[in-house]
Amino acid sequence: MPGRIPQSFVDDLITRTDIVDIIDSRVPLKKAGSEYKACCPFHDEKTPSFTVSPTKQFYHCFGCSAHGTVIGFLMEFEHMEFVEAVEYLASRLGLEVPREGESAPAKKKTETADIFTVLDESASYYQQQLRHHSQANEAIDYLKQRGLTGEISAHFGLGYAPPGWDNLLRHLTNKKYQHNLLLQAGLITRKSENRHYDRFRNRIMFPIQNHRGQVIGFGGRALGDEEPKYLNSPETPVFHKGSELYGLYRARPHIKEAGKALVVEGYMDVVALSQFELNNSVATLGTATTRTQLERLFRHTDEVVFCFDGDRAGREAAWRALETALPCLREGRQISFLFLPQGEDPDSVVRAEGKTGFEAKLANAVPLPDYLLQQLSASSDLSRIDGRARFIELAKPMLQKVPDGAFRELMLNRVAQLAQIDRETLNRTLPSPESVPKKPIIDSGLVRKSLVRLGLSLLIQRPHLAKKAGDVSELQHLELPGIQLFIEITQLAQQHPDMTSAALLERYRGTEYHKHLEKLAVWDHMITTEDLDQEFDAVMRQLKERWMSQQATQLLHKTHLSESEKSKLRELLQNRRSK
Ligand code: UTP
Ligand code: MN
Repeated sequence: MPGRIPQSFVDDLITRTDIVDIIDSRVPLKKAGSEYKACCPFHDEKTPSFTVSPTKQFYHCFGCSAHGTVIGFLMEFEHMEFVEAVEYLASRLGLEVPREGESAPAKKKTETADIFTVLDESASYYQQQLRHHSQANEAIDYLKQRGLTGEISAHFGLGYAPPGWDNLLRHLTNKKYQHNLLLQAGLITRKSENRHYDRFRNRIMFPIQNHRGQVIGFGGRALGDEEPKYLNSPETPVFHKGSELYGLYRARPHIKEAGKALVVEGYMDVVALSQFELNNSVATLGTATTRTQLERLFRHTDEVVFCFDGDRAGREAAWRALETALPCLREGRQISFLFLPQGEDPDSVVRAEGKTGFEAKLANAVPLPDYLLQQLSASSDLSRIDGRARFIELAKPMLQKVPDGAFRELMLNRVAQLAQIDRETLNRTLPSPESVPKKPIIDSGLVRKSLVRLGLSLLIQRPHLAKKAGDVSELQHLELPGIQLFIEITQLAQQHPDMTSAALLERYRGTEYHKHLEKLAVWDHMITTEDLDQEFDAVMRQLKERWMSQQATQLLHKTHLSESEKSKLRELLQNRRSK
């Protein structure tokens, strides 16, 4: 068994490889200022938002948030394993990959390309079964009874998983697909060591596609009252419920054309709406709407309408969606809510009232700001002072989530009006924004701002800043989340003054911090290059101040102070006053 690849070798490879060369030979890049741009290879787009930075040795897509080092790029784009990517880069430089010690046997992981292939094969199989299986009549009757035409079923690639334990399993094994691959694709379940069976049995199959139209999973509906009503593929290397949307691949051009996207709850709703020529709807995958899903939609349109049942569950879902949506609200973006009568869903409404009936309801969807204020004022009595105070308390945390801008300002005006106080007074009750940056630090949506995060992000993007930090070990008892990591990285960069961002990041691959650090590495904090030194100094100064103030607070809370503690406290307090 080969041993681990030494970290220093990986560092070295990254330093000696230019990410621009590697990417440019696969995705032709155009120079744009100090960076390079192209249309993103990881999602469909017309205007380039895929950026490669030669200084940071990173790539980052502002459209789909794909990002990483040259190794990450090869892993994503070429579907290479980590070791393969390293070997590839080494061979380009004519280097032999060294190994250290012995390690656990490296289990060969399945390549995502194989998962896509077997999922595609399965989708075709299910479709064939709907046409040819001896018991397909039952499935076809079910679809007819639900009002689906053959045409719309075909359009959505609906299929049939016949009854029985191993129909798909046998079909795929005959084609030489391995159990391990089928397990990873979520198509079969393991009963015991050598016994597997089909996950989907006797169900109508809804293939779920990603943004490239590849099948990534399935939703399977029971033909009768069996539980669960819908069975979905599990999370797999290619299927992430929190970031995909059912129907988006097909709906995309229609969303553009209609100028809005409709978010519904069920697969069947998407299909039914489409049958009535309302082609701009998508469905979440049986979970609450996530921020990622919303941002994804906002790449295609500025207007999103959520469509929920009028019952309690629907209202709760709407409120959750609203909370998720607040940070995405920017000028130009609009979100509204359509509540359907109790017991109805888009499928039943469009079948009963047709396209025009449904559109008439859509026109009456409640805009998010109205819904928010309605709900908040409904739970406080605005005719009483204490009710209005409560209203403000409820509104505050919600509005804090909305990014700075006209929208937030207008909302605050409304809140002030409803609470019958002036804006000045309302402003005073709002927590002041963090005081570090003199200039606005923009939340790119990837990272929430905080002192330590900003410090980390500056450091990862410019490791040479570490030398300005001096001795950071004195900060080790500072009670701020992430401070230990900040200290560790500062010291690492101080010990290796030539380390690049990418090399720093590679050190953390496989650790719990890697993802987080990667995000920080591409966090656009909107600080111009000339100001970086100054910003980093400001972060260090604030961290040291916080440390002093934490010590002072601790001393102030002590009942008995020794002489040395008293003089320390005096010193700390003086220091604070002189700032
Ligand atoms: P609904 O229960 O609202 O069903 O689930 P529906 O879409 O109206 O289904 P029909 O009309 O009875 O066929 C909405 C969505 O919630 C997820 C599915 O994604 C479904 O489309 N769901 C529901 C599950 O994942 N599992 C379930 O058992 C039920
Ligand atoms: Mn339904």
